[in-house]
Amino acid sequence: LTVALTPLTHADHAEVEALLDAAFGVDRHGRTAYRLREGASPITALSFAAWVDGRLVGTLQSWPVRLVSGQREEDLAMVGPVAVLPEIQGSGIGKSLMTALLTAADARGFDAMMMIGDAEYYGRFGFTPEATGGWRIDGPYEQRRLLARLRRDVPRTGDLRAVSSAAAAV
Ligand SMILES: CC(C)(COP(=O)(O)OP(=O)(O)OC[C@H]1O[C@@H](n2cnc3c(N)ncnc32)[C@H](O)[C@@H]1OP(=O)(O)O)[C@@H](O)C(=O)NCCC(=O)NCCS
Repeated sequence: LTVALTPLTHADHAEVEALLDAAFGVDRHGRTAYRLREGASPITALSFAAWVDGRLVGTLQSWPVRLVSGQREEDLAMVGPVAVLPEIQGSGIGKSLMTALLTAADARGFDAMMMIGDAEYYGRFGFTPEATGGWRIDGPYEQRRLLARLRRDVPRTGDLRAVSSAAAAV
């Protein structure tokens, strides 16, 4: 399987949405992660598309979010959704997308990232629930699925909030 990765901006919006529906189901919009990205624009440098023979087979998006901890406000990148076409899951496309993400994040200094997902999968890419026990998000989610990859000092308690694109500096 020869997989090509490009910036997500190369993909057609409707095609991306169809892929996300196939991977997560059409009821995905009610998820708490979607509330966290409400009004935000994706972080272009951290969003990717995967292609096989010119067909869109996977996507990874990232968004600006903010951790508010008392007087302190920290900008983080929220990763997700990560989606691979169901019929070719398990062939390394998720890994390719995550590797591209980490390379771009490390090159550009995105040293605090979080996501909501399975630690059993994302742990291998450095996303763990260790530092997130004191973080809260408005909306239902499982605390053990709140994952972070931190390469700088970030408060251990606080509320994660959406960053509307008008205010985002990314
Ligand atoms: C999760 C997902 C992005 C992984 O992409 P992928 O291309 O299928 O994964 P890869 O081929 O890179 O990796 C496959 C490995 O990950 C494991 N894996 C996949 N999903 C997993 C999960 N949810 N939990 C634990 N392990 C998982 C597979 O068992 C396999 O393990 P192995 O390498 O030991 O055989 C993809 O399966 C997907 O889109 N799933 C549906 C949407 C979803 O549930 N996303 C996760 C929540 S954000």
